[in-house]
Amino acid sequence: MRASRLRAAIGAAVVALTIGVAGGAGVIAQTDSNDEAERRADRQSDGDIERRVDGLLSRMTLQEKLQQITLLPDFKVTEDEVRRGLGAVLSETNPERIRELQRIAVEESRLGIPLLFAFDTIHGFRTVFPIPLGTGASFDPDVAFEDATYGARESAAVGLKQTYAPMVDVSHMARWGRIAEAAGEDPFLNSVLGVARVRGTQGRDYSDEEKLVASPKHLVAYGQPEGGRDYNTTDMSEQRLRNFYLPPFKAAIEAGADTAMCSFNAINGVPGCGNHYTMTEILKREWGFDGFIESDWTAVAELRSCPPQNPSDVPECGHGVAADGPGAAALALNSGVDSEMTSTFFRDFGAQLLSEGRISMSRIDDAVRRILRVKFRAGLFENPYAPYEPGEAEAQMLKPDAVAAARKAAGRSMVLLKNEGALPLDPNKSTAVIGPLAKNGHDMLGPWWGRGRDEDVVTVLDGIDQQNNAPTTYAEGCKVSNTEPPHTDPEGCQSDAGFGEAVAVASAAEQVVLAVGESREMSGEAASRSTLDLPGRQEELIRQIRAANPGKPIAVVLFSGRPLALGDVIGDMPSLIQAWFPGVQAGPAVADVVFGKVNPGGSLPVTFPRRLGQAPIYYNHEPTGRPCNPDAKFNSRYRDIPSCDPLFEFGYGLSYTSFEISNLALSSSSVSRSGRLTASVQVTNTGSRRGDEVVQLYLHDPVASISQPVRRLRGFERVTLDPGRSRTLRFTLDASDFGFYDNSGRFVVEPGQIDVYAGDSSKADMKQSFTVR
Ligand code: BGC
Repeated sequence: MRASRLRAAIGAAVVALTIGVAGGAGVIAQTDSNDEAERRADRQSDGDIERRVDGLLSRMTLQEKLQQITLLPDFKVTEDEVRRGLGAVLSETNPERIRELQRIAVEESRLGIPLLFAFDTIHGFRTVFPIPLGTGASFDPDVAFEDATYGARESAAVGLKQTYAPMVDVSHMARWGRIAEAAGEDPFLNSVLGVARVRGTQGRDYSDEEKLVASPKHLVAYGQPEGGRDYNTTDMSEQRLRNFYLPPFKAAIEAGADTAMCSFNAINGVPGCGNHYTMTEILKREWGFDGFIESDWTAVAELRSCPPQNPSDVPECGHGVAADGPGAAALALNSGVDSEMTSTFFRDFGAQLLSEGRISMSRIDDAVRRILRVKFRAGLFENPYAPYEPGEAEAQMLKPDAVAAARKAAGRSMVLLKNEGALPLDPNKSTAVIGPLAKNGHDMLGPWWGRGRDEDVVTVLDGIDQQNNAPTTYAEGCKVSNTEPPHTDPEGCQSDAGFGEAVAVASAAEQVVLAVGESREMSGEAASRSTLDLPGRQEELIRQIRAANPGKPIAVVLFSGRPLALGDVIGDMPSLIQAWFPGVQAGPAVADVVFGKVNPGGSLPVTFPRRLGQAPIYYNHEPTGRPCNPDAKFNSRYRDIPSCDPLFEFGYGLSYTSFEISNLALSSSSVSRSGRLTASVQVTNTGSRRGDEVVQLYLHDPVASISQPVRRLRGFERVTLDPGRSRTLRFTLDASDFGFYDNSGRFVVEPGQIDVYAGDSSKADMKQSFTVR
């Protein structure tokens, strides 16, 4: 065994994390401008790598090249495929099997090119962290960095070298199950956290034995499917694509991500994995990306049309931009896909397409070159195997430092949405823990649980019990649904048979923790919902418990992978903590927050509507010619909702203490188009407890050639302050902040006024203005 070079410096690295976000950056926290330079210096050997790539490429046969651009899942891989020079394997995580397949690749394939083993380590491998939407709520890049760091370490221990993360799909679609997988509705927040994840995953050099190559996904605009239905059509303007959906990809690529995944969805009629514009023109040419693009799962095959009769005779078809398999392969390859996942059309039809002149040898060589380049950079030719013997990998999982980081991350991701004084609860009082998510490890792991196991989770019940000095009691109330359609109970909690017992247990205790929400199966891929309700009869459960216990402290803890529409039930909740899916340390983290050991300081990364019908509703919307006014007619309102506002806006979150944000000041009243200025703002803890505030800075361009969003987040910092203490924060603003992309894809900086808002949510109304000359 090679000794694990444990990064003693994780803490230090986090502090020094560079959060400058390329292509649009308010600068947050400490900025280490040397970081990028050092990373490039580490790449001094790129010249050698290119020579080695060329040398290898010149010795490869066409079949070996086609095999190299093929990527197969664990259940499709055969040893024979590997001997013939297969490029990569996904979802194989058994360390013995990985070692054996790699041995065959290195020792028994003609050229000995190592395999690249990939997996979806999205929010943890075995030590499961909160879902990325929760990390978004932390507004803390260190949380994303640590999640990615420990995820990479555990993944690398079994022999993996690539993760299909970070997912940086900005989304305004609450019904979409995959809104759980990224940082929510804002491009800037997604950029900052995406960069932190790339850094955590790759480190300075992903050949390090604890590092992986990152793969931002899904290029692009996958987060905007019509109706919120997964895989569905996306149609949007160039300026929207460039201002909302591309920035996090650009930031992740500039942070060094060396692979990327194209998306299932069509944008303006062109599917992501058949899209020359996004993959080749933007990613590869405009941004200079020299790594490789893998297709999403069977996305190449899906470019085909389905036969009019019996579409189910041909699985994986439907976009209808290619007539058949060869057509799909030609389109994907020519558009820029370098590695085909799961379907094998590159391999099966490559020779035929080449002889017909429908693809070129230089494009095949380019794809192979990109893959080999990443394999060399990953150090796979020198160290093809995991840093541990297969039998030792298990000992690398769930190590105390990783588990402690997961607990801290879960606590920092929680958002206090309401508190009528019920919280924090008293750890010396008898506590009833009620609800379908209370004694539940399974759902706490969320929709990408990696190799996490239900039994690794400390449940809410156990977490509360461990910290409670008085008796803890429990009743389930009802069950959420963990089954997949077709079924008759998609939501669960349809029966009130357990409500009587739940009310009785709650009534017998001095205080109550009510753990309600969605099951993990309701989030993630192919898990869109047509409603945003609290599933089943849970609202009723809350009402009954509340009605039987007027005035009793009740902590409502809500688990979900999306914003829910709580307009009808919020009045019955004396308090509300949004806990997302917190991961393996769900119970301790909930107890930390409920009992006040951790003062909640997260803020919402997505808007919470009052009712489903308001969705999509998001803070960074364009204005209209008829601004919403609930009390008048001819304007942009809903006649049946007496408010223009959501229930909770983006950036909203309370604390057990209180803060004042004041003294917004600009370093100058005007700036040239290429100049920069500083916005400073003061934050003071005006309450009586130590706590966290997320200070947020928004811009608005009130007169522009394209109507600009009413607010755009361009800076934030989460600060911890003792009572009575203040801090002044500074945010640097430049063209990347006050400019925007127009509909021809050009980045423009227009002269005129820019408004700057600072505060504790997207409703911030403290304002200063400056002029761009
Ligand atoms: C998902 C990707 C994932 C891939 C491999 C696809 O279905 O869309 O996000 O990386 O599967 O597991």
